[in-house]
Amino acid sequence: MLLEIKNLSVQASGKTILKDINLSMEKEQVLILFGPNGSGKSTLIKTIMGFSGYEISQGEIFVNGEKINDLPIEERVKLGLGIMYQHPPAIRGVKLASLASFLCKNENVINELSSKLSLENHLKRDVNLSFSGGEMKRSELFQLILQGSDFLLLDEPESGVDIENISIMGKALNSYLEQKGKSALIITHTGYILDYIKAKSGCVMMDGRFWCVGEPKEMFESIKKSGYQTCKECQCPQKK
Ligand SMILES: Nc1ncnc2c1ncn2[C@@H]1O[C@H](COP(=O)(O)OP(=O)(O)OP(=O)(O)O)[C@@H](O)[C@H]1O
Ligand SMILES: [Mg+2]
Repeated sequence: MLLEIKNLSVQASGKTILKDINLSMEKEQVLILFGPNGSGKSTLIKTIMGFSGYEISQGEIFVNGEKINDLPIEERVKLGLGIMYQHPPAIRGVKLASLASFLCKNENVINELSSKLSLENHLKRDVNLSFSGGEMKRSELFQLILQGSDFLLLDEPESGVDIENISIMGKALNSYLEQKGKSALIITHTGYILDYIKAKSGCVMMDGRFWCVGEPKEMFESIKKSGYQTCKECQCPQKK
């Protein structure tokens, strides 16, 4: 099992945000996470990554069978975890090209990927500094793929990205996942990424709990049609 979360509850600033979460993911699987604003999706990803400020009050997280509750972020990165932020930070004084060379020693791979993601002209700029919203998202994906992460945690990868660039990012992401046998947990509001990624399972998070599981495209169509209210009222057998 790639990821196993057992009875996880998480607090931030003394407030309980995640409540008794259970989740399992196999290797080479893509899981789509839906849920209204403020339901706890980003908190889940940040807790898996080990960000400070998110305190596990109950439960356990395992990656490849190893309990990671108390591991620092760098150890989690060594286990293959990688995050694409909802709001990526800028790194003043560090060129994107320098970071790329640090993450990947093969210059051909860097050049090929930067051209695929239309980032050739950004390599000589400071990482994410004054990048447009869409450029920042492409830069995040660029870094993550160069890093070679086995398990990608993607927080709204298509937010603020135009249709054409969603297609570019979606294809780059899909070929990375498929060709290298990688896994991903992807948060999406717009559902656009579902057109490019083969994801078998999806789940809805509401008020810090997992609510429903199902086929991601079907779930998204239902959310689009009736909003999250139907999820609340849902009595489907998959209700958690
Ligand atoms: N460090 C923190 N301190 C206090 N409250 C927090 C903290 N982090 C998150 N929260 C609160 O926890 C709730 C869940 O936040 P989270 O960012 O996980 O939501 P989300 O599902 O990712 O929402 P969105 O779709 O808007 O990105 C929100 O009410 C948020 O204000
Ligand atoms: Mg969020």
